[in-house]
Amino acid sequence: MNGKSFAAWVLVLPVVGGVLTAPGRASASSQDSVVEVTFTKHVLPIMQRACQQCHRPGSVAPMSLLTYEEVRPWARAIKDRTAQREMPPWYIERNVGVRTFKEDASLTDEEIATIGRWVDAGSPRGNPADAPPPVQLAALDEWRIGTPEWIVEIPEEQTIGAVDADHWLNVWADSRLTEDRYIKAVETKPSAGAYRVVHHVATSMRWEEEDGEEGGGFLNEYAMGKNGDIFPDGTGRLIKAGTQIRFNLHYSSVGEEITDRTRVGLKFYPEGYVPDRVLISRHVGDSFDTLDIRAGADNVRSDGYYVLPEPTQVTAFQPHMHIRGKRMCVEAIHPGGTIETLSCTGHNFGWHIVYNYADGQAPLLPAGTILHVIGWHDNTAANRYNPDPKNWVGFGNRSIDDMSFAWMSFFHMPESVFEQKLAERKRLTND
Ligand code: HEC
Repeated sequence: MNGKSFAAWVLVLPVVGGVLTAPGRASASSQDSVVEVTFTKHVLPIMQRACQQCHRPGSVAPMSLLTYEEVRPWARAIKDRTAQREMPPWYIERNVGVRTFKEDASLTDEEIATIGRWVDAGSPRGNPADAPPPVQLAALDEWRIGTPEWIVEIPEEQTIGAVDADHWLNVWADSRLTEDRYIKAVETKPSAGAYRVVHHVATSMRWEEEDGEEGGGFLNEYAMGKNGDIFPDGTGRLIKAGTQIRFNLHYSSVGEEITDRTRVGLKFYPEGYVPDRVLISRHVGDSFDTLDIRAGADNVRSDGYYVLPEPTQVTAFQPHMHIRGKRMCVEAIHPGGTIETLSCTGHNFGWHIVYNYADGQAPLLPAGTILHVIGWHDNTAANRYNPDPKNWVGFGNRSIDDMSFAWMSFFHMPESVFEQKLAERKRLTND
């Protein structure tokens, strides 16, 4: 279903003769090396596909990139940021581990080269008639999972003062659900004007089981820049009638008073449907007391482990580190001892991106596999986010303390299903 693809997040206007889907992908052909690269013909389609949903008035981005007049002053910065692969935010290392993802937001090498050549040629406008029609951008507060069927808000609006200290709080909200349902997609969203002050929100569920015991578990995590979770078909997460949802919120001030009423949106499987697999999302490889980042040190490594108790398909990876975080890799140590790198990614504290593996490449791992998470931190002055390279840093909840773990999503399956999936995967890759 291409409703999940990143390109489809921007609603593209139908044009005569068909629908433009990802205009930037096709425009940079080899003949461009002899043809002049212009804004209207070559660069604008890339901006439309990969930049404008953020770079437009009122959004999180610092400047709008809708028109030539707006883009032109930023040409050099755009060349630099795209060549460094800092923009659009997508930091997965492309030559290691799994190569294909759902909602891949990155530019192709060709697109980056096109932008570079355009800037080097003096950023010419080109013929206005070559410009594609403007794209109709999705509303800023649009849900990335589509319209939720059920929305639960924190009970009261929170005010974050201009210069408050970092603030953590747990608030409970009644889900108002009167029947048990399986969740197909979930997304957490701060209020439209509050994205800048919400560092993270973790939501979890609590309900009472028939035997009076407490049930529940993790629901969803949001952090700056994060999209929603859409579970693969046939996998889901149970939410029970009467569930109370706990929002664990972390606010940090930005010099201006801002109010927030964070909410979580849910999409369900049809009533009565029970998915075959339960989708688990959890911390993997936490290093609490082992995180030991000396003052002024770079490439400080920490390691964490998690043993998979059953045969597993891993569906998504998201690094979690703070300001000194630099890079993270996750590898699978197979029971036989073979080591397989699943993913490595650079880390930028402003962007918490979930890398959802394409179904055909999502790692299949036997029971007993150890997930090994390796984090690297940079506590030098060269880290432009570092407020204080003169001090030691260890584990802690504040942004100025640090962390190292991965959010991983996966589901378990019986041995027989696992064997089938492995055989199928082998068949597909040998074809
Ligand atoms: C998901 C939202 C998002 C997308 C997509 C995105 N940007 Fe950005 N961009 C931002 C934000 C937020 C900032 C400011 C914070 C930062 O630098 O990370 C920024 C910063 C920048 C800067 C630096 C501005 C400065 O002050 O120096 C440039 C240049 C830039 N973006 C270009 C692009 C281009 C070109 C694209 C598309 C190829 C793009 N961005 C895609 C959100 C986005």
